[in-house]
Amino acid sequence: MMNWRNDGVAKVTGKAKYADDIKFFDMLHCVPVYTNEVHAEILSIDIGQAEKSKGVVKVITAKDIPGVKKFGQIRKDYSLIAEDKIRYEGDVIALILADTLENALNAVPKVSAKFKKLKAILSPEEASKDELLVHDVYGSNLINHHKVRKGDTDRGFSECDLIVEDYYETNFVEHGYLEPESAVCQVRDDGVIEVYGSMQHPFSTRRFTAALLGKKLSEIEVITIPMGGGFGGKDDTAAIVCARTALASWVCNKPVKMTYTREWSIKESYKRHPYKMNYRVGLKQGKIHALQCSIITDGGAYTSVSPWVTWRSTVQCGGPYIIPNVFTDVKAYYTNNVYTGAFRGFGSPQVNFAIEQIVEVIADKLGIDAITLRKNNMLRQDSVTVSQQKLDNHIVSLEQVLDRAIKESDYCKKIAKCSFGKGDDSKLYGIGLAMSYRGCSLGAEGKDFTSAIINVQFDGSILLEVAIHENGQGSETAMINILANEIGVPASKIRYRRSSTSQIPDGGTTVASRGTLMGGGALMDAIKNLKVIINNTIASELKCKPEEITYSDNNLSSPNGENISWEDAMGILYQNCTYPYAFGSFEAPKVTWNEENGSGNAYFTYVYSAQVAEVEIDIKSRKVKVLDIFAVHDIGKAINEGLLSGQVYGGVVQGLGMALKENMIIKDGHITTNNFHNYRMYRANELPRIHDFIIENPDPNTPSGAKGIGEPALEIISPAIANAIYRATGKRMKKLPMLAEDICKQ
Ligand code: MOS
Repeated sequence: MMNWRNDGVAKVTGKAKYADDIKFFDMLHCVPVYTNEVHAEILSIDIGQAEKSKGVVKVITAKDIPGVKKFGQIRKDYSLIAEDKIRYEGDVIALILADTLENALNAVPKVSAKFKKLKAILSPEEASKDELLVHDVYGSNLINHHKVRKGDTDRGFSECDLIVEDYYETNFVEHGYLEPESAVCQVRDDGVIEVYGSMQHPFSTRRFTAALLGKKLSEIEVITIPMGGGFGGKDDTAAIVCARTALASWVCNKPVKMTYTREWSIKESYKRHPYKMNYRVGLKQGKIHALQCSIITDGGAYTSVSPWVTWRSTVQCGGPYIIPNVFTDVKAYYTNNVYTGAFRGFGSPQVNFAIEQIVEVIADKLGIDAITLRKNNMLRQDSVTVSQQKLDNHIVSLEQVLDRAIKESDYCKKIAKCSFGKGDDSKLYGIGLAMSYRGCSLGAEGKDFTSAIINVQFDGSILLEVAIHENGQGSETAMINILANEIGVPASKIRYRRSSTSQIPDGGTTVASRGTLMGGGALMDAIKNLKVIINNTIASELKCKPEEITYSDNNLSSPNGENISWEDAMGILYQNCTYPYAFGSFEAPKVTWNEENGSGNAYFTYVYSAQVAEVEIDIKSRKVKVLDIFAVHDIGKAINEGLLSGQVYGGVVQGLGMALKENMIIKDGHITTNNFHNYRMYRANELPRIHDFIIENPDPNTPSGAKGIGEPALEIISPAIANAIYRATGKRMKKLPMLAEDICKQ
């Protein structure tokens, strides 16, 4: 059963019901109204003509918001409906509600507005001058500035015998979830507003919706439904769409649906942060001795989670290496571009793209192979990280992971075959490698705890609910697998209850590869509590002490060989009027952070990864064909191997898109690659062979031993590809995406 998933059949047969599939009687359709402005003061908005348009029930503007008009997980700087200013092309000035989608769309051009145009700030460099502010109230365009100050870099560099300086750049990236933003809301008879939407964050969606409507948390119920991809992208924008739909539903007291087109989605939804990175790395006798790293990024019009994304970059800026002297600055600025936020990887793919190439540049300069350089400098058991964290509470398996990747890919033999420096073949071959350490879960970003409920029925069937959201990654199945395994019953007896914010306590956001790790932790606690209840009742039947009972093969057993089936045991609980019902919670081990010098135990544990890429480049077309990817990850413990592979394949493919294809173009603040026709992502028939390997060192900090895989799988693909391209061509690719026109033979 390891590869079974509870929603598999529904999804492959197309029967799964997503937000846009939900319909209610007398349901209205809602559409957003954008302007063509990028930076402008709003002088007036005229909705008169639109309200008279056929089928239109209401045109909602900011004036109709009864509660808090501004939204934000960190800074409340985003207006759910723009009122005074346009800060990027995705700002919405009105919502049109009509009887049909067509009638709603027809009314959009009838909304007219007057603006005072302002100069647009289109780059973080320009923003840093603070000549014109995107948000006057903050007094500066600087969103955040994270620092790492470790050791003494002045002295460190003066002691170095080799110093390498390099500049790397990455682009905006679209998440490209197949299902665009969508929500359906209705006001229930009891006044509670039900929200069905495509989002990663039922609890934050509830919080924002309640704030917008001026209601209590208990008056909003966000109900989980299948979601067609998120990847970090169904965070702010998805919650915003849900909150707007709830507002529309509340204003008209009718069910309302709002489903985005691809163009609206790309225009409005936040992207991956584009990074500009200056690196200076000093070596002393073959050891990385000093690192100076200066990064700026375009935060776009709103803060979103830029401070958290860029924080992870500080922790991972030096790669998985021991570096005694570090001086890092990471700054995010407001501009009038599309805003940037959470995206699978969360600030690490960018820095990995730089540092994992730089170590190879250094190795070449030293005339040693890059594996030796990595091994001489990598984090090992009890090593201290860039942020001064001693890695002593889990197994640091970087070398194990790296060795496995080298072995499985036959790297050492293949590196000798690489084309750079060899004859004149029309096809060039290269192999490249990259590795990382990645902090698990939220780290010092926020409160990290979650919950689980097991409700066993008296016939032995089981209802399970965990406050982690099914983002499509298979978290429901992973939770079922853990429970089935721990209580020794087949997974078929367990039904996952779709979570609802009114049923289970707030379990935080389902992000940061924390689903299995945190949800599994809470579930293990619930299992422990459940067993206490069951054991106390059943011990006398089995003639043993409660703590001696074991669970396997659908039986409860005592050490002296007494057995009782799971069903019979539940029958006995019924006779005793005892509920086999348990709640469990898990709080992540404490983390610490000093923002002044960027030090602390940033994350309570780390995932270790190494990936190898093989490429073939056609000299004439310069097209890079990725042949094979070897992905090795230490994820603690595998809960479901099929789902794990799925995460690796998905992460690798999404990473490949960022590396080689996805080229977001923004001109004067307008995204011109506004659909999947001109924003090209990888297609199934273009994919390489992907070989995934799991290393298990159960993590002592998590009750299930599992860590996470969603993001590690993506975060080192682009440097592995870049290193492979270099070994094929001799050209260092310092900019993402790595496009054919930039690839040439040196
Ligand atoms: Mo994420 S990018 O932490 O959903």
